[in-house]
Amino acid sequence: MSGSASPVALVTGCRSGFGLLTAVELARRGTVVYAGLRDVQTAGPLKAAAGELPVVPVQLDVTRGDQRAAAVERILAEQGRIDVLVNNAGVAVGGFLEQITEDELRHVLEVNLVGAWALVQAVLPAMRRAGRGHIINLSSISGRMALPGLGAYAASKFALEGLSEALAHEVGPLGIRVCLVEPGPYRTDIFGRNRRVTTGTLADDPYAARAARLMELTERATAAAGDPAEVARKIADLCRQDRPALRHPLGRGSRLRLAARALLPFSVWAWLVARLTTPRPGGPPSDGAAADQDRRL
Ligand SMILES: NC(=O)c1ccc[n+]([C@@H]2O[C@H](COP(=O)([O-])OP(=O)(O)OC[C@H]3O[C@@H](n4cnc5c(N)ncnc54)[C@H](OP(=O)(O)O)[C@@H]3O)[C@@H](O)[C@H]2O)c1
Repeated sequence: MSGSASPVALVTGCRSGFGLLTAVELARRGTVVYAGLRDVQTAGPLKAAAGELPVVPVQLDVTRGDQRAAAVERILAEQGRIDVLVNNAGVAVGGFLEQITEDELRHVLEVNLVGAWALVQAVLPAMRRAGRGHIINLSSISGRMALPGLGAYAASKFALEGLSEALAHEVGPLGIRVCLVEPGPYRTDIFGRNRRVTTGTLADDPYAARAARLMELTERATAAAGDPAEVARKIADLCRQDRPALRHPLGRGSRLRLAARALLPFSVWAWLVARLTTPRPGGPPSDGAAADQDRRL
């Protein structure tokens, strides 16, 4: 086993978005990064962004036990350490809970929750031996507030929040830091190439009008989404901190929305959500009215 003097990180889901940018940002700051890809053939954009930086693409579908074990074994064999795990790989399925399929729900949970947990389990022996380490789990604002049409995604992120909170208690005393990064909307492929929405599976679809309204709101959120490099920089910052806080909401309005969700009685919150997501009789609200409602949420 050779050893690395530089910190070593494993980042999952590096084909695009936060994962790609985080891998490059960490490498720029002197970390050797193993960048997991669901399909290593898709490493082109990562390699182009990384240039000569120490970023090593690795085959890692987080739902595959054999690939998780191989990736962790390879890093330990080549570097002798894993200082940072960024559980970034994630999928989102839009759709009302009566309409999504069992396979869709299971897949979201497999990637966003079970895959993350299994990688935590795989890296912990090395981190415990070292008496230090950072585990950063990509949650979402949807990990603390569940909106209609995003139930499966919210379920996976709420579960990841619970898992991470328990983990922080369990491994904090061993010197291992756990963080939840909770972005609002940012411009990544989750709103484009990787966008999945299930609609219209029911006869006389009772959700059709609200689904259309939610699509409209999603388009608006996508247009106003933040720069994902901000999230990558935040993750890289957290890896340098000795005692980072557990939760890190990011993005315009995220803190305010989470505070409102936590402080308002649910009936008031539900009224606000209904006002925002229910189509007005006679057609969609004007842009000005909708923007006004967006700000209120
Ligand atoms: N963008 C946002 O607004 C936002 C907000 C809150 C939280 N998040 C979270 O941020 C994380 C990154 O998402 P993103 O926004 O950067 O979207 P993205 O560009 O779609 O990136 C998602 C990454 O996860 C990978 N992935 C999907 N299934 C995988 C699997 N089974 N194994 C390994 N990798 C897998 C994707 O690879 P392929 O493309 O090859 O499938 C892709 O590289 C996710 O956990 C997401 O829930 C995003």
